[in-house]
Amino acid sequence: MRRNITKKVILQFIPLIIGALLVSSIVANIAIKVFLEKKVMEDLTNEAAIIRNVITTEIGNEKNIDREKFKDVIMRSHKLDKVGLDSRLEVITKTANNVVMSQSKDSQFDSQMLTELTNRIQKGKESFIIKNDKDDFKYYITVLPINKLVNNNRKVRYWVILYTTTKEVSNLTNTILRINILIMIIIGFISIVIGVFFARSLTKPIIKLKNRANRISKRDFDSIEMINTGDEIEELSESLEHMVNELKNYDESQKRFLQNASHELKTPLTSISGYAEGLKDGVFDNTEEALDTIIDESLRLKKLVEQIIFLSKLETTHEFFEMKVVDLKELIGNAVKKVYGLSAKKSVNVKLDIEDRINIYADEDKLIQGFINILSNCIRHAESNIDIAVKQEQELCHIIISDDGNGFSKEDLENLFDRFYKGANGSTGLGMTITKSIINKHGGQIRVSNNENGGANFIVTFKTI
Ligand SMILES: Nc1ncnc2c1ncn2[C@@H]1O[C@H](COP(=O)(O)OP(=O)(O)OP(=O)(O)O)[C@@H](O)[C@H]1O
Ligand SMILES: [Mg+2]
Repeated sequence: MRRNITKKVILQFIPLIIGALLVSSIVANIAIKVFLEKKVMEDLTNEAAIIRNVITTEIGNEKNIDREKFKDVIMRSHKLDKVGLDSRLEVITKTANNVVMSQSKDSQFDSQMLTELTNRIQKGKESFIIKNDKDDFKYYITVLPINKLVNNNRKVRYWVILYTTTKEVSNLTNTILRINILIMIIIGFISIVIGVFFARSLTKPIIKLKNRANRISKRDFDSIEMINTGDEIEELSESLEHMVNELKNYDESQKRFLQNASHELKTPLTSISGYAEGLKDGVFDNTEEALDTIIDESLRLKKLVEQIIFLSKLETTHEFFEMKVVDLKELIGNAVKKVYGLSAKKSVNVKLDIEDRINIYADEDKLIQGFINILSNCIRHAESNIDIAVKQEQELCHIIISDDGNGFSKEDLENLFDRFYKGANGSTGLGMTITKSIINKHGGQIRVSNNENGGANFIVTFKTI
């Protein structure tokens, strides 16, 4: 089953957006957690340093520690300079086999945690996190050693231990994570809505184009779908309409061609069958004349069919041309030779005025045919002279063929290259269509006009090599 654009947008881009949001929120969460942990540890260390200061100043010089005063100092010091952390304070010392806590009443430590703590202290660690099995919480812990104090006439090492649970940080990061997830859900939902809307706005004109293409395939060229998206789809629709116009013109020209061809074929056929029937019925006194007409009309028919086949091959077969380097001067000379019989019969003088060799890429036979068509037209319409000259212009060469006849009518100039167009003195009306097609296939151009003497002018332009 084909997936439509809406599904594609939703299935491909939305997971991408949500994935990106997920990664960024996880990274942000980790960064916030690391930052908060660092901050907590710093605050604990600062506070522990203050407490150590108070203890050292107040009882550091005592000969012997008074237990009650010691406890009192510890309690007071803990109340000083609170940075907002819900911290707990312990001052511990280590006897031969035991660790003695200062405030065991509300201590959060169990014996296992105490052992873990002393292990860390022995390793010289000052800040760390420990999991406490007693309450299943994790603790941030800061340990600062105090100078040795005198207790029971012995110098003993004490440590200030300040700690707080990771609960607040975890709560905060969990809240941020929940907010992030909520934002992700909202953004995901919004992107689905936008995605659907975007995909719809994309598919709507595409469906219109599809419908238009379906109608075109059924030769319905007229029901245009207006698309005003202002983007590439509108450009595509304009190209489609352009193509439709071309198709429409082509379709019409094919119809015209068929009508004209059948009309042109019908005329000689009617004449042939008419004369043949007349001969059979013995209505002609001069049978020779009737047979001549049948032969002439058959030849005309043959020429017409050959021209139609040639023209259709020109327009449809790409491999029809065999290009090679040819000398245009020699090529036109050959064309002039081929129409010599015709020109001599009409006493028309053809003057060829090309001196230098002109090299072009061409299919010699076809291009000769093109020039024969022009020359035979000129011979038919000329009074007595046809001039062929050349004008070189950088890499272009213009062949100018002019006659001294009556020139083109306005109608000729407008329709000369149309299939089956024939004016005064015309024959089948395919000659100029064929010539133009041949010249265009050589990358050349043909233009027509009337010269200052009123005769016809043909200018054929090629790129030289
Ligand atoms: N040199 C010319 N002087 C005046 N009119 C011309 C000249 N060449 C062509 N025409 C006009 O242009 C029309 C079309 O020419 P085109 O060569 O296509 O057809 P055709 O000569 O009538 O028939 P075909 O060449 O197929 O035998 C001619 O019928 C003629 O009226
Ligand atoms: Mg002709």
